[in-house]
Amino acid sequence: MGHTFTTIIEPFRIHSVEPLRMTSEAERAKAIEDSGYNLFNLHAEDVLIDLLTDSGTGAMSRDQWAAIQHGDESYAGSPSWFRFEAAVKDLFPFRHVIPTHQGRAAEKILFAVIGGPGKIVPNNTHFDTTRANVEATGAEAVDLLIAEGHDAATIHPFKGNMDLVALERLLAQRAADIPVVFLTITNNSGGGQPVSLENIRGVSEICRRHGIAFFLDSCRFAENAWFIHEREPGQGEREIADIVREIASLADGMTMSAKKDPFGNIGGWLAVNDDALAEQCRNLLILTEGFPTYGGLAGRDLEAIAQGLKEAVHPDYLRYRIQSTAYLGNALSDAGVPVVLPIGGHAVYLDAKALLAHVAPLEYPGQALSVALYQVGGIRSCEIGSVMFGRQPDGSEKPASMELVRLAIPRRTYTQSHIDYVIEVVKAVAKDAPSLRGYRMVHEPRALRHFTARYEPIR
Ligand code: F0G
Repeated sequence: MGHTFTTIIEPFRIHSVEPLRMTSEAERAKAIEDSGYNLFNLHAEDVLIDLLTDSGTGAMSRDQWAAIQHGDESYAGSPSWFRFEAAVKDLFPFRHVIPTHQGRAAEKILFAVIGGPGKIVPNNTHFDTTRANVEATGAEAVDLLIAEGHDAATIHPFKGNMDLVALERLLAQRAADIPVVFLTITNNSGGGQPVSLENIRGVSEICRRHGIAFFLDSCRFAENAWFIHEREPGQGEREIADIVREIASLADGMTMSAKKDPFGNIGGWLAVNDDALAEQCRNLLILTEGFPTYGGLAGRDLEAIAQGLKEAVHPDYLRYRIQSTAYLGNALSDAGVPVVLPIGGHAVYLDAKALLAHVAPLEYPGQALSVALYQVGGIRSCEIGSVMFGRQPDGSEKPASMELVRLAIPRRTYTQSHIDYVIEVVKAVAKDAPSLRGYRMVHEPRALRHFTARYEPIR
């Protein structure tokens, strides 16, 4: 009767388990040295808690595994395709749904059609693959995030919002060169921060007034809708699916990585309203991804995503999801570990610039911190700082604006005791932070260097 409890209950029981391999600190020191101090080079079996990404790493539900048994592998017109299409259109009622093997394939097809030299694509913040696919066509990718979104410590409920004044100004000058305006919900590269419904309506209104298409990069749409439900005046009584449908109704299309909120291990799609654009995109789809009723996916993948979409908007799940990410972030923040605030939806971002102020930016404080988290506790994270963004197109090297380490939380995969362990490890590493040294890059590939670079510790 009216009791409230603070323990976060995982809204599921564990039905099938996967063993974790325990390793000693000495084994990990050897493994990371052999990997050239790059966490992407590790064997995943040498990782205890893998927070490298929330992409494709979630646990599927009993009902998703059951749906997989209904997978129909007909080349064309499979019933699995029709179930997938209906599940997508139930939340995102765009006229055309075009399946792809993952999000970046949808980006590649779309920008191949509408990009090109002289074009500009604005976004709140482009994710790396989105930026790369825009730039690969010769177009320019422009980020128009609000000022609050650039500062790790500033508290704002919707730090992923687009700067509407800057957007209006850009459209007034260059409308003819802008084929589309994008909005990434939530803003992954900016700390997993949400965009408000008011801001989405604002972007939509500006685009419609200028006659420019408005698209969503919607990987974490359900988490974004939950933040709207929790934080935006007047939204608390609405169903999550209803908020999602309104967001879709404000846009002309979307790209999606189904490896995030839709609980796929693989998959994605492109959806558009425009018939002529859809036809051009389907023509390209057939060249690389496959026939339009499967894209790059097996029938069983389409089934898993169709079921995953239903689970992604359930309020019990989303409450747990957002609370459990905040549980990790707030515990670290309360212990004095600097993190991006407020805590985002899918990840906690450690501020390595603040924690390792004694390490010069081009000696990679974020890399030093992520290597230490692995050596000390077997935790794999991802540097988002000068390693990822430091190399400039003109060949020079320049510090990134933030030195972050992302702890991305796979969906439904780790329990609260795993996370309690992560908190303990991060606190121990933070306590010893003054003793950590930077790194020198000894092998650097030409593009996307963070994936395959090798390093040496600076003694
Ligand atoms: N857009 C955003 C906002 C993303 O976060 C990602 C992937 C993509 C597009 C591309 O989707 O991987 O299916 O091709 N993000 C992953 C991550 C890789 O770790 O954040 P994809």
